[in-house]
Amino acid sequence: MNKIQTFITLFVIFVSLLGFCSTKNVKDLIVVSVATRSTDGFERFNRSIQVYGLKLELLGLNQPWKGGDVVRRPGGGQKIRLLRQYLESVQDRDDHLILFTDSYDVIINGNGDEIIKKFNTFKANVVFSSEKYCWPDISLATLYPKTDDKRYLNSGGFIGFASDLYRIIQLAKDINDDDDDQLFYTKIYLDKKYREKIGIKLDRNSQLFQNLNGEISDVEIRFNQGSNIVDNPKNADAFLFNKITQTYPIIVHGNGASKIPLNSLGNYLAKSWHPAIGCISCDENEQRINLDHIDHDDYPHVLMAITILKPTPFFPEFLEYLTSLDYYKHRITLFIQSTNDYHNEQIDKLMENFRNYYHDIRYVENKQAKEWQLRNNYLDECTRVNCDYLFVVDSDARLTNSRTLRDLIEANRSIIASMLVRPKEYWSNFWGTITNDGYYSRSHDYVQIIKNERRGIWNVPFISTAYLIKSSLLNLENLSANENNNHRPLSYRNHQQHKNDDNDDEKSFDADMYFCQVLRDNGIFMYVTNLKDYGHLAQMDTMDVSLKHPEFYEIYTNEYEWRKRYIHENYSTNLLDETIIEQPCPDVYWFPIVTPTFCRHLIEIMENHGQWSAGKNQDPRLAGGYENVPTVDIHMNQVGLEQHWLYFLREYIRPVQEKIFIGYYHDPPKAIMNFVVRYHPNEQAFLRPHHDSSTYTVNIALNRPRIDYEGGGCRFVRQNCSVTNLRLGWSLLHPGRLTHYHEGLTVTKGVRYIMVSFVDP
Ligand SMILES: *[C@@H]1O[C@H](CO)[C@@H](O)[C@H](O)[C@H]1NC(C)=O
Ligand SMILES: *[C@@H]1O[C@H](CO)[C@@H](O)[C@H](O)[C@H]1NC(C)=O
Ligand SMILES: *[C@@H]1O[C@H](CO)[C@@H](O)[C@H](O)[C@H]1NC(C)=O
Ligand SMILES: *[C@@H]1O[C@H](CO)[C@@H](O)[C@H](O)[C@H]1NC(C)=O
Ligand SMILES: *[C@@H]1O[C@H](CO)[C@@H](O)[C@H](O)[C@H]1NC(C)=O
Repeated sequence: MNKIQTFITLFVIFVSLLGFCSTKNVKDLIVVSVATRSTDGFERFNRSIQVYGLKLELLGLNQPWKGGDVVRRPGGGQKIRLLRQYLESVQDRDDHLILFTDSYDVIINGNGDEIIKKFNTFKANVVFSSEKYCWPDISLATLYPKTDDKRYLNSGGFIGFASDLYRIIQLAKDINDDDDDQLFYTKIYLDKKYREKIGIKLDRNSQLFQNLNGEISDVEIRFNQGSNIVDNPKNADAFLFNKITQTYPIIVHGNGASKIPLNSLGNYLAKSWHPAIGCISCDENEQRINLDHIDHDDYPHVLMAITILKPTPFFPEFLEYLTSLDYYKHRITLFIQSTNDYHNEQIDKLMENFRNYYHDIRYVENKQAKEWQLRNNYLDECTRVNCDYLFVVDSDARLTNSRTLRDLIEANRSIIASMLVRPKEYWSNFWGTITNDGYYSRSHDYVQIIKNERRGIWNVPFISTAYLIKSSLLNLENLSANENNNHRPLSYRNHQQHKNDDNDDEKSFDADMYFCQVLRDNGIFMYVTNLKDYGHLAQMDTMDVSLKHPEFYEIYTNEYEWRKRYIHENYSTNLLDETIIEQPCPDVYWFPIVTPTFCRHLIEIMENHGQWSAGKNQDPRLAGGYENVPTVDIHMNQVGLEQHWLYFLREYIRPVQEKIFIGYYHDPPKAIMNFVVRYHPNEQAFLRPHHDSSTYTVNIALNRPRIDYEGGGCRFVRQNCSVTNLRLGWSLLHPGRLTHYHEGLTVTKGVRYIMVSFVDP
């Protein structure tokens, strides 16, 4: 042979070696999987199959699982047996590609053409997925070919021609159901004879398969771009990108301890969510429940379980949100449990007002009860009253959206929370992900979700505070279970931790955390929805119940309800461009600012304090010890409200001031003199003409002329103009010096209260 002939010969040999696998043309791709029960995880898998138009052959459905507890121990021989039975029927099909995957913890993220194309690049007959860990027999690690570069076979996903897979599976004649399938495949792969004869390769670079265990930080979600996405959600792909291998794997497997990260990725994969569209999987659910078509007597019976573990700020508002929920009350049973008596009066009032509307109202106060006991009580109560849903609402939930309950029911999930976030904080009622030992951890998308930059129905590992449970979950038989079918009854009681109930450390792993762990162990997906705004969380730790009207002090800690309760409903009208603020006297402005409740509470706080000044020039409360124009008053700092009041001036007074007196900006406003004045015929009945030591003065009427007192009012001397028909909760705002020399007119009967601030002295 000459050189050329030699070359050609070698070339032919080379090509045929390369091509020995590519002689088969793929005609069909069938996904084969084993699922003994239809779990949430299976439904997610099945959805991804539908989304990409794949053919699924499902093995073992409704058969008892005998494969062992694969989460903790080896097992899975049953999978091999089922696959062998199936392959017997298709063994002669050389052009059939079988993609075998797990289902409960697998999502497929590409169509058949993409899978086949990638498979062809391997030039193999069978390709197994690979992972970082050599499992279940670590001693086999040394037997792997060097080229595998610390990648080990994982049998949760593999793909190959039916005939070749059949050759492999025939070697498993005497495998038991609880033998380990991964070990079986590993041994075949490690046997060079089989590996080369059958043509088996490992997917070392996650071309097709991504096993997530230990590799979750290697991957991220990426979205495709393009204008055609909005028109057609079918084009809205979310890809999994492996940053290490620079590949886009298609079959995503939450093996081992990566179920929770998989759930998080599953919120996007298989065209579930795309930034150009939002949540695709939320809307497509034709199985949504529609309450509108249900006769009101047939509405699902809801047990609304209210838990009060601490004195709760703005509790009446909390109840008001609940009684305003858009739902037939006669189909709701209220079950209230509290570990304190702080709200008994308010609850009594609720029962009085609503007893005839709700199906039933029950209140149990138990100071000794542990949190888990209260919570387990409502699980039992739901069964006892035969409820269809258990709606768990803790007293720090603020369900401002009256559609909340309906939306949660209509979403048709086993358990779903409405997202609640503490205003201006990152604190919410769900966790995006958790650490391996079960504690909070921030997911890649947590901030975007709580800020509503991403809206959807999210599969998350922990929820609390306001969530709806289908009562079918409370039935042990109905628990869909994980692969091992070991149901655990729902419970908030952490038995491990409560061996000694008198001495437990509930903080480390509390009732809610335990409950969610049970759900996770049962393979039940928990969801949180922020498709709409549903409300927020109260701050429970700041309220000092030893104070008179403690909520008055919650101006910045529970601002939303504070504003609702204490700021005048027309306050914001003041700030509209078209609103002309009244001027009862020249450069004296007058506008609504606070509610009657504010006025009453502030008076009561002051009267409760009781240390009214003597109205003398000597005043030890002042830095100089001397007051030129003394009144009978109490300063805000005497009742611990100084900082609160400065906040009030800044948030509510300053914007009006800036509108009235154009060009004067002083942010934050300063004020040392903030006080409530009391005028009384027998005490101090008037105040002689004076200037205030302020740039401008705020003067809020805390009670009503001609009803609460006679006489009174404010007279501006230079303007020869008085304001006497004062309006409750309205403020006067006028310059303090030079132009607005003024006096307090005589109160002839009753008591007059005003709130005064000298701003920017
Ligand atoms: C998988 O989804 C399809 C389409 O929705 C459905 O017809 C089929 O019953 C599902 N399979 C199982 C086992 O639930
Ligand atoms: C709700 O979801 C369940 C389980 O996914 C499904 O069987 C049912 O058809 C859905 N729709 C209604 C109206 O219950
Ligand atoms: C739950 O269990 C009850 C009683 O065992 C049964 O009638 C019902 O169909 C089950 N529901 C589901 C969703 O499996
Ligand atoms: C707020 O303004 C509206 C419209 O002027 C008025 O009807 C209503 O009574 C005002 N609210 C209060 C509390 O004064
Ligand atoms: C002040 O106003 C009153 C009535 O409003 C009027 O009778 C009186 O003459 C005025 N005084 C001066 C000095 O303008």
